[in-house]
Amino acid sequence: MAINMSSSNFLFVLCLVCGAIIIPAGLCQSRGKTIFPRTFGLNTIRLLIEGNGYGYENYTVTTEDGYLLNLNRIVHPNRTGSHRGYPLLLVNGYFMQSEAWLVQQELDSNLGFVFADKGYDVWLGDQRGTERSKGHINKTIDESKLWDFTYHETGVYDFPAFIDFILNKTNHEDLIFSCMSLGCTFHSVLGSKRPSYNQKIRAAIYFVPIISNNRQLEELNSLVYLMLRTAPALTEILEKSGLIEWHPNLGNLKKELYHVCRVIGYNLYRLFVKIMFDTGFHVPHCNVVALSLGGASSRVAKHIIQVFDSAGFSEFDYGREENLKKYGTVLPPLYDLKKITTPIAFYYSDIDQYTSPR
Ligand SMILES: *[C@@H]1O[C@H](CO)[C@@H](O)[C@H](O)[C@H]1NC(C)=O
Ligand SMILES: *[C@@H]1O[C@H](CO)[C@@H](O)[C@H](O)[C@H]1NC(C)=O
Ligand SMILES: *[C@@H]1O[C@H](CO)[C@@H](O)[C@H](O)[C@H]1NC(C)=O
Ligand SMILES: *[C@@H]1O[C@H](CO)[C@@H](O)[C@H](O)[C@H]1NC(C)=O
Repeated sequence: MAINMSSSNFLFVLCLVCGAIIIPAGLCQSRGKTIFPRTFGLNTIRLLIEGNGYGYENYTVTTEDGYLLNLNRIVHPNRTGSHRGYPLLLVNGYFMQSEAWLVQQELDSNLGFVFADKGYDVWLGDQRGTERSKGHINKTIDESKLWDFTYHETGVYDFPAFIDFILNKTNHEDLIFSCMSLGCTFHSVLGSKRPSYNQKIRAAIYFVPIISNNRQLEELNSLVYLMLRTAPALTEILEKSGLIEWHPNLGNLKKELYHVCRVIGYNLYRLFVKIMFDTGFHVPHCNVVALSLGGASSRVAKHIIQVFDSAGFSEFDYGREENLKKYGTVLPPLYDLKKITTPIAFYYSDIDQYTSPR
């Protein structure tokens, strides 16, 4: 096994090296397939981007509430100077990190690379709580205070930090924003809580957003329902024991997931995912899942469940007493979606149980 691993590593490095030189000529590997790193570390995103023939840059951005976030940038090989195209920010979904935009098997299915090829200056933001964005100016990682956030804080603090940094760096007045799943929820929070940012986003492209849902929780597939239903109780237990980071040893989890997926084989794994989610959608490959996982606070899960629950798309429900202190009302206030003036394009599918066209 050790020999296998190192020989595949060697092949990968070889491919990386020829990738940079020969890929354009189509000799090492056809441009049709994405080249995946075989390691799961903090620098996977760099390996993924550089391995497929693009340049990589990253920056640390500080939010108003002191979080240190990692912001990635794809550098197109033909645009390395100061004019890199119109800026476009991609933000991923729950428990994911920026790799999620770059892990499809076909190179042309990776929106990060597609936008870069189309002439955009592509930025990928790692929101707070993901593997590369766990720093804080005052707090250390194991302090539970660091994990005391929901998607509200991500929308209200992380996005402005990303956007202001990009606009300042590129000398542009505005940018295009695209998101998948919970990433779109962050944007809706931002647009409704800090409407001045609507001017800084020329347009938003939503893929499978989680904002409102016309299905009751009970109508969801029973296993998903069970997961969503047990999550708040689980969160409660974790929080009481001072552990609100969701799966702290994510690096190992990813390695195990990838290993299990490879051992049981893609078909068995696919069957499992289909039974689990009951939607018959295209099931992503082993490395997609393993590479995309980025981590999150368990509070975020609690807040997501509110969307499917009676509370609707509202601010975080801290419970009666805390709500009264924080919001002045027993129930948390709804996000005012009318305040969002940025034009939005929605992409969703009819069989999606988690996204509603409303
Ligand atoms: C991002 O930048 C920091 C500081 O320059 C560096 O230490 C880190 O390794 C970079 N991240 C990646 C994924 O390359
Ligand atoms: C960080 O700590 C300093 C000094 O204790 C304090 O003044 C500041 O408000 C803190 N900043 C944040 C964002 O917590
Ligand atoms: C870069 O520009 C050259 C010359 O215009 C072109 O042949 C090549 O395909 C471009 N590379 C990429 C990755 O688009
Ligand atoms: C904008 O960039 C300049 C130069 O890079 C820097 O001095 C300044 O602090 C930045 N402003 C903000 C708001 O980040």
